[in-house]
Order: sequence, then C-alpha cells, then structure tokens
Amino acid sequence: MTIMEAIKSRHTVRKYTNRHIPQEIVSLLIERIKQNNEKYNIDMNLVTENTDAFNTFIKLVLAKGVNNYIVLAGTILDDLDEKLGYCGTDVMLYAQTLGLNTWWVGGTFSKKGVKKNIALTENKKITGIIAVGYGATQGVSHKSKKIEDISYYKGITPDWFINGVKAVLLAPTALNKQAFKIIGEGNRVSITCNNGIFSNTDIGIGKYHFEIGAGKDNFVWN
Ligand SMILES: Cc1cc2nc3c(=O)[nH]c(=O)nc-3n(C[C@H](O)[C@H](O)[C@H](O)COP(=O)(O)O)c2cc1C
Repeated sequence: MTIMEAIKSRHTVRKYTNRHIPQEIVSLLIERIKQNNEKYNIDMNLVTENTDAFNTFIKLVLAKGVNNYIVLAGTILDDLDEKLGYCGTDVMLYAQTLGLNTWWVGGTFSKKGVKKNIALTENKKITGIIAVGYGATQGVSHKSKKIEDISYYKGITPDWFINGVKAVLLAPTALNKQAFKIIGEGNRVSITCNNGIFSNTDIGIGKYHFEIGAGKDNFVWN
C-alpha cells in the first residue's frame, strides 16, 4: 500500500481487537518514529501493550481495546505543534500501509497516564497521541467540505493543486472541522487553519497530505 492509498483508506478507529502487533511491525514503526525524531528534532514515542492512555470513563464509552499508542511530544517551541502534526501524519499513514488502524487524539486522552510511560523533561510537552492497532472495523469516511470551501487558486487551477486539496480533505482534523484556507498562485501555495488550539497541528497534518496529493516537486510553500 502506498502513502496515497493509505490517505484514501484511513479513517479514525476507536475500537480495537486484542490482536498483538507483531514484533517486526513494531520495529518498523519504531524506526520510522526514530527517523522523524532525528530529522525534526522531536520526541515521538511508541508505547506498546499498555492501557494507560485513557481514563476509565473514556474506556467505557469511547476507547475500546487501545493497547498501543504513539506519543506526540517535543521541546516547547513555536513550531512544535505543526511539526508534530506533520511527523505524526507520516507515522500514522505509514502504520496504515502496514495494515494497522489509527486514531489521532488531541483532547480525550489521559496525559497523566501517558506520562507514566515516557521520560519527559520539563521543557517538553505532549500535544496528543495516536492510538494504533488492529481495528474492530476500518472506520468510515468523514463528512467532508468541498474543494471550493477550503481553497482558491488565482488563475487556471492546475491538476496538482486540486489533487493536493483533495488529499487534505481526507485528512483527520480536530472535531472534523477542516477549517483550512489553501491559496495557490503560480507554484506558490499557502495554508492557514482556524481551529482553536489545534490549528497548528491541523496545519502540519494538512501540509503532509497536500504534499502527497500535489507532489512536492510541483509547488513551494509560501
Ligand atoms: C488534532 C486532532 C485532535 C483530535 N482529538 C480527538 C479527540 O480528542 N477525541 C476524539 O475522539 N477524536 C479526536 N480526533 C479525531 C477526529 O475527530 C477525526 O480525525 C475527525 O472526526 C475526522 O475523521 P477521520 O479521522 O475518520 O477522517 C482528533 C483529530 C485531530 C487531527
């Protein structure tokens, strides 16, 4: 499965089976996380066989069988949320190519529970987690805005721009807000988002999806 195919088949899955992730798949995930951490100077972590990510109430009503999760963490800097959005997306979609399902969680997880399982110094923060495992289902497509709701291209719109926006519309966003504005002119593209505390995370996720859909060689970010 390619990353583009992963974009198309990925949906949030909140219920997981008790099937363990085989060691070779765990190793691949750890390697991908390591590559991102080194390249972007962040501190993502994979926690396996552990149920501390949610409190009892959330486990009762929403999160079933979450035993593995990626912790999105890094040094507190202005661009941290966007970087973790971008890199978390890389690992999330990679997990999908490995036959796994995922769920990005920015709010309803237990920070206290997660902190018990990773070493985090004071200058670092956790922006969210991505639950990962074998889903009880593959999830369903989210309700989506239209291309023209979130984008505008000055002039005759090239195919790469449309394909980029289409990929963004398949991305997970906090509360499924899809609060993007993507503007293109020539080979320059800008993306903004108005989704409260999750705006920069959503921008990182959106940028990753746009690059895959449009093709990185076709444009530059403004
Ligand atoms: C930054 C971010 C934060 C999120 N936080 C939560 C959350 O706290 N609880 C939850 O159930 N889902 C959360 N989600 C999942 C979204 O609700 C989900 O991605 C959205 O509804 C779109 O559905 P899809 O992932 O199937 O495309 C979050 C997603 C993102 C990207």
